[in-house]
Amino acid sequence: MRTEDAPLIRLEDYRPSDWLIDTFDLDISLHPTKTRVRSLLALQPNPAGRPGAPLVLDGDELTLKALALEGAPLDAAAYAASPQGLTIHAPPQRAFTLTIDTEIDPSANTKLMGLYRSSGVYCTQCEADGFRRISYFLDRPDVMSVYTVRLEAEKAQAPVLLSNGNLVAAAELPGGERHFAVWHDPHPKPAYLFALVGGALDHVRQDYVTAEGRKVELAVYVEPGKAGRAGWALDSLERCMRWDERVFGRNYDLDVFNVVAVSDFNMGAMENKGLNIFNDKYVLADPQTATDGDYASIEAIIAHEYFHNWTGNRITCRDWFQLCLKEGLTVFRDQEFSSDERSRPVKRIADVRTLRSTQFSEDAGPLAHPVRPRAYKEINNFYTPTVYEKGAEIIRMLKALIGDGAFKRGMDLYFERCDGTAATIEDFLACFSEASGRDLSHFARWYEQAGTPTLVASGQYDGAAKRYTLELAQSTPPTPGQSEKEPMVLPIRLGLVGSQGDLPLKTGSRAYSGDGLVILDRASLSITFEDLPEAPIPSLLREFSAPARLELDLSDGELIRQFAQDSDSFNRWQALQSVATRALTTTGRAKAERSALSVTARALGEALDTFLRRDGLADPAFAAQVLRLPAPADIAREIGRDVDPDAVFGAHRALSVAIGAALLPRLPGLREALSSQRAFSPDAASAGRRALRNELLGLMALAAPAEGAALCEAQFASADNLTDRLAALAAMTLVPGEAREALIGRFAELYSGEPLVLDKWLMAQALIPESGTLERVKRLMQHPAFSLGNPNRVRGLIGGFAANLTQFNRLDGAGYGFIADIVVALDRANPQVASRLLGSFKSWRMLEPVRRRLAQDALGLVARTPGLSRDVSDIAERTLA
Ligand code: BES
Ligand code: ZN
Repeated sequence: MRTEDAPLIRLEDYRPSDWLIDTFDLDISLHPTKTRVRSLLALQPNPAGRPGAPLVLDGDELTLKALALEGAPLDAAAYAASPQGLTIHAPPQRAFTLTIDTEIDPSANTKLMGLYRSSGVYCTQCEADGFRRISYFLDRPDVMSVYTVRLEAEKAQAPVLLSNGNLVAAAELPGGERHFAVWHDPHPKPAYLFALVGGALDHVRQDYVTAEGRKVELAVYVEPGKAGRAGWALDSLERCMRWDERVFGRNYDLDVFNVVAVSDFNMGAMENKGLNIFNDKYVLADPQTATDGDYASIEAIIAHEYFHNWTGNRITCRDWFQLCLKEGLTVFRDQEFSSDERSRPVKRIADVRTLRSTQFSEDAGPLAHPVRPRAYKEINNFYTPTVYEKGAEIIRMLKALIGDGAFKRGMDLYFERCDGTAATIEDFLACFSEASGRDLSHFARWYEQAGTPTLVASGQYDGAAKRYTLELAQSTPPTPGQSEKEPMVLPIRLGLVGSQGDLPLKTGSRAYSGDGLVILDRASLSITFEDLPEAPIPSLLREFSAPARLELDLSDGELIRQFAQDSDSFNRWQALQSVATRALTTTGRAKAERSALSVTARALGEALDTFLRRDGLADPAFAAQVLRLPAPADIAREIGRDVDPDAVFGAHRALSVAIGAALLPRLPGLREALSSQRAFSPDAASAGRRALRNELLGLMALAAPAEGAALCEAQFASADNLTDRLAALAAMTLVPGEAREALIGRFAELYSGEPLVLDKWLMAQALIPESGTLERVKRLMQHPAFSLGNPNRVRGLIGGFAANLTQFNRLDGAGYGFIADIVVALDRANPQVASRLLGSFKSWRMLEPVRRRLAQDALGLVARTPGLSRDVSDIAERTLA
C-alpha cells in the first residue's frame, strides 16, 4: 500500500474500542516454518464503545485456519477474514469467547516484526503494531488483557521457552521429543508488550529482593558460549532496580525478570513485561569486545527498559499519539540514573550533544513534528529524537518549573492514580498541576508546538547604578504545518559571573523565581539585577535548562573567561563550544575568512593549554568533552542554508589541526600521565581517563600525522581493551596511507568471528572523509562480515556512510544515489530499517543548490519506486514535501 492510499490516523479521531478482551489464552506450537497459534479471547462489549458494533480484529499477513465462537465453528457468512483482518459481523452483545487458529512462518519473517527467528532463536517484537502478525487481535494499547501463554517446541531446538510473567508449569510431552511451558502474567497489558522466546540459550542469573520484600529471579539469556559477556548487563539491572526503589519509590512486581539478547533486532531493545528482548549489541560486554561507550549504553538501555515497567507497562499509553508519555519520561529516568551512576555534568553534556545533533536537526528540517504528533500514516516513523529526547527535556523542564518536591509528589500521584490504565499526556500533567497547585496549560504547549525556540539575550551594565539589565526574547521558526508560533515557557537557569565567581542575584522581577531560575513565558522580558560591583558575564541556560538555541553576543575573550570562572560545568563546556562554533560557522560559510579561524585557534589553544595544565587531570571525562569540538554536522546546522559540506569540513579540520598543534608539546606528557598500570575496569573514572587520552591521540594524528600514526600503532599493539584499540584505529583512519590499511587489516584479523566488533570496524571505514570511501564501502558490502539482512551490519557500514558528511554529500551525487538504491533494495525485506536509513536525507534542504538538487533527485527516485512500504513512502513524501 502506498502512503497516499494509507489512511492518515488522527489524534482527534480517537475513540474507545467497542470491545474489550479481559483474558487472553495463547497456545503456540513453535515450528521453523509452520508455527501454529491458537488464541482464546474472552471478549465483552466496552461500555464506553458503540453498542451493537461488529468485532473488527487487526491482522497483518495472517492465514486463518479455524474460528469458533464459544466452541462452535462460525458460519462462513458470519465473518470475513483476510490477511489484514478478521471481522465478526454480528457478535453477541454480551461477554463471549472466540477461538482463532492461525499459522505463521517465522523463518520467512525478514521484517523482524511479529514472530521471527534470529540465529535459530524464536523471538518476537510487537511494538508498535506487530502482534497482529501473530494472531488476529485488538492490537491497540488501550485494550489490556491478562495473558496465559502455553509454548510448545522440540526440546532440542528450543530447550528454553520464555514468555511474560511467571512460569506456572513446564514438562516434557509424551515421546520425550517435545516439551512445553506455561507462563501467566497477572498484570493486564496491551498486545504490544507480549513476547516469547524459544531457543538454545545460555544464561547468567542472580537473586534479588525488592525493598518491599519480593524475591525476584533475575536472568540474562545469551547465545551459547557468550554467558561470560552477560555479567555487566546483569549488574546494571540490579543497580537500576535499586535506584528506582530509592529515587522513584518503584518496586518490581513479578517473580522473574528476564532479559534476552538476540542478534537480529530492528531497534535497541524492548520492554516486554518481565521479558525484555535486546539487540545483543546492548547486552554483551567484555573488555575485549566492548568499548567504554558500549558499557555506558548497556547500563543506560538496561535501565531504560527496566524503568518502562512502571512508565510504559503498568501505566501504558491510551493511543500511539501519547508515545512520549512513556518514552520521553523513561528517557528522562534513564538519563537521571546514568547521571547518578557516573558524572552528572559529563552525562548532561553528552545528552545535549545528542539532542542537538539528532533532535535540533530534525526540528530544523522537513520531518519536524510536535512531541505529541497530531496525525501519522506509519507510527514506526514516530519513534524519533523529538518524541524521545525532546520528550525527556520536557520532563526536565517540568521538574525545574515546579521544583523537586512538587515533581516528586506529582510522580507519586501519577503512579497511584494511573496505575493499570492506558493514559494520556493530559492525565499525566493533571497530576503535576494538582501536586504543584499550578496551571500547566501554557507549559503543555511543549507537546504541541514543533521547532526549536531561539532565545536571544543581551545585557547592559550601568556602572554608576551598579545595575545589570538583561533583555530576553524568544521566537520559534515555522515548521511543516505550523507557520505561526506562540511563545513557550522557558525555564532559564542563570548566574552572573564576576571575576571572583558567581555574583549574588538581587532582583524584584516577577519572572525570577529564586535559586537562579528565570521563567520566560512571553515573547520578551527585561530583568534588572541590583547591587553588582562589576560588569558580569551572563551565564544562561545553565545545565541546559531548556532545549533552545541561545543567541548571546559575548566576545571570545568573555567566553574564555566564562570557561575559566563559571560555577556551572555545563556552561563552562558550552563557552568554549560557542567560541569554536562562531569561528567555524563564519569560516564554513566562506572559505575566504580563514584568518578568523587562526585567531580563534590561538585563543582556544591557549585556553585549553592552561586548562589542561591546571586541572585537566582532575576530571578527565570532562576534559575530554571540552577538547571535543562541535561536530561538522552541528556547524552545518548552525549555518542553516546553502551549506557546502566540504567548506564546513575544511574549517573543522583546520581548527582541529591548529588546536592540536598548539597543544602538541603537552600531549605526550599528558597521555603518559593518563595511562593506567592497572587492569581494565569499565568504571566511569577509568573510562574518563581513556576518553581524554584518546581525544589527545586524535588531535596528535591530525596535528602531527607521522608521530600520531606511530602512536596509534603502538597503542593498538599494547592495548588490553577494545576502547583503546578502536580509538587507535579511528585516529589512524585520519592518516591516509599504507600504515592505515595495514592497521585496518590487523584489526579485522584480530576480531574475525566478532560481528559486533566488526560493525565498528565497518563504520570506522565508512566514516573516512576521503573520495575513495564510497568505493571502499561498496567493496566492504562483499566482505563476509557484512550482510544486508542484519540491522546492526547495515547500521554499521551503510548507516556510517550516510553519516559521513563529506562523502554522503559528494558533489557528484553518488553518495545520495548509493543510499537511495540501498533503501529501495532493503525496503522489500525490512521496511523499518530502510525507512530509518532514508532519514539520512532529512537535512537536504539546507544544502547549497547543486547538492540540494541531487539529493532531491535521489529522494524522488525512491518516492517513485512502485510497491514501496508505508514506512519508506511516508518518509520519502514528507522529506520531499
Ligand atoms: N519501546 C522501545 C522499543 C521500540 C522502539 C519498539 C521503536 C518499537 C519501535 C524501547 O523502550 C526503546 O525506547 N528503545 C530504544 C533504546 C532506548 C534506550 C532509547 C531503542 O530501541 O532505540
Ligand atoms: Zn523506551
